[in-house]
Amino acid sequence: MEKKTARWLRDVYFDFFQKRGHKIVPSASLVPEGDSSALFISAGMHPLVPYLMGEPHPLGKRLVSVQECLRTQDIEAVGDSYHHTWFEMLGNWSLGDYFKEEAIPWSFEFLTKVLQFPAEKLNVTVFAGDKVAPRDEVSARLWRQVGIPEERIFFLPREDNWWGPVSQTGPCGPDSEMFIDTGKPKCSPDCRPGCSCGKYLEVWNDVFMEYERRSDGRYYPLKQKNVDTGMGVERTLRLLENKEDDYLTSIWQEIIKKISQLAGRPYQGEKRRPMRIIADHLRAAVFILADGVRPSNKEQGYVLRRLIRRSIRQGELLGLPAGFSREVGAAVIANRDNYAGEYPELDQKEEILAALAAEEERFRQTLQRGLRELAKMTQKLQEKGERKLSGRDAFYLYETFGFPPELVAEELRKDKLELDLADFEKEKERHQALSRQSARGRFKSGLADHDPRSVAYHTATHLLQAALRRILSNQVRQMGSNITHERLRFDFSYPRALSEAEIHQVEDLINQQIKAGLKVERREMPFAESQKLGALAFFRDRYPERVTVYKIGDFSLEVCRGPHVKNTAELAKFGRLVLYKQESCGTGCRRLYARFQG
Ligand code: ALA
Repeated sequence: MEKKTARWLRDVYFDFFQKRGHKIVPSASLVPEGDSSALFISAGMHPLVPYLMGEPHPLGKRLVSVQECLRTQDIEAVGDSYHHTWFEMLGNWSLGDYFKEEAIPWSFEFLTKVLQFPAEKLNVTVFAGDKVAPRDEVSARLWRQVGIPEERIFFLPREDNWWGPVSQTGPCGPDSEMFIDTGKPKCSPDCRPGCSCGKYLEVWNDVFMEYERRSDGRYYPLKQKNVDTGMGVERTLRLLENKEDDYLTSIWQEIIKKISQLAGRPYQGEKRRPMRIIADHLRAAVFILADGVRPSNKEQGYVLRRLIRRSIRQGELLGLPAGFSREVGAAVIANRDNYAGEYPELDQKEEILAALAAEEERFRQTLQRGLRELAKMTQKLQEKGERKLSGRDAFYLYETFGFPPELVAEELRKDKLELDLADFEKEKERHQALSRQSARGRFKSGLADHDPRSVAYHTATHLLQAALRRILSNQVRQMGSNITHERLRFDFSYPRALSEAEIHQVEDLINQQIKAGLKVERREMPFAESQKLGALAFFRDRYPERVTVYKIGDFSLEVCRGPHVKNTAELAKFGRLVLYKQESCGTGCRRLYARFQG
């Protein structure tokens, strides 16, 4: 019999939905494009939000994908047998096409016929109804029609059976979730699907997205009724492989083996927790690095830093040798055949591993400095005859040196002192509220924080477009762009992949313009005049009557809001611009990634 691996699962899933008219969309990058309300893609539907809201999708109304996702809200829960930060999600979508009548019977058919889960183990939940949306009798009826008896259909409230939106606003709706009964006894008479004791494992979620949550906090009917589904690859694999623990499935095997080898201990008992955290966090780190993010103190870079540092700390507790993150990272990349999706970005193996190793090294140095700082605090406490370290001090260690409170408490215990944990949590909460506020401010203004590196990437984006038009064809048109502190991403119209030679020509041409020190001039003029001058502008109808135009020597002319550097020579201090990855972004659309390399 064929082995039921993650790839097998993807193939049968795609096949099932292709036969039902769905087109495959490739997994989007982990960093959302043109959406700064979230740091990472957290669900298969996330890159599809505009289409769920009614924009036509170039591939039609029925889509299927496997999407890499990152969820950090449960980061503290990682270490048990089934929470993960990075994971893959299978999904099928109806963009205003089919609805419950098709989605539910298909879900049932796929689970019982293709994956062959016994129908009698299937339990489902449906929305119980509230002020916003009615009790979902339709879904319940459809489940009964395929043969699920009344006692295995649970009507649950909003906390359980409402999904979305991804951030504060956007498409959302009631859902119907499917659970496999593992056969374990109930943990209590009230135990039911959704209980975390492990008797019922959620395998799939069908969301009926017919609402939109707006910034006033209210719900409005969407223009179209959509279906959004999500099936976690790791969880389903655990059920298919019949394992007690996600980390015992084929997807994790090689990574866990590597960690246990480095630790010189088997994956057993209380050692499982740190091993799981390391496996989870370093796998996530590898995929984030592969998307061009580098450790830093903000946004995506900060999440990445936290994941790496948390795993180093666990490695210390486990007695792993210095430099282990690189080895575990290499095991993650070597394991790539086990993932459901195709991840060509893992080809940048050396860069990914070097970045991991560098961050580990940096943290080890910080760790020493932080411990010295803590020793000073300890001394002061003792001088004053006090026993508790304040939340403020602990938070300082947390923020500056990445010290988790458990580390601080552990160190304090050596001197018979304690950490005021409640005070620490209060302090942390206060800072989170502050940073949420400032994030909202920044996200509203996009590039308005004028971070010099992002500004340099912005100017580089203009150089890139002009270079592509010269080397490839003046038919090249910008289709999208996204800039982070770490890299730029550029989507443009072009029918095929670029050759190695073309990539190099484009790179060289850009770097020549940087070297040449071209003046970047900003002018304001009526939009019509900018068009007479031949300025590039692609979203014509969205331009106001008067616009700003940026002219880079005689090389590039674009209508743009800015900001930009004053002279291309300013880009040189960040290094040479390299195109490090290309991919397709749909028919007739190419995507390039570029970053400065020092
Ligand atoms: N968007 C839904 C989820 O993530 C399917 O569970």
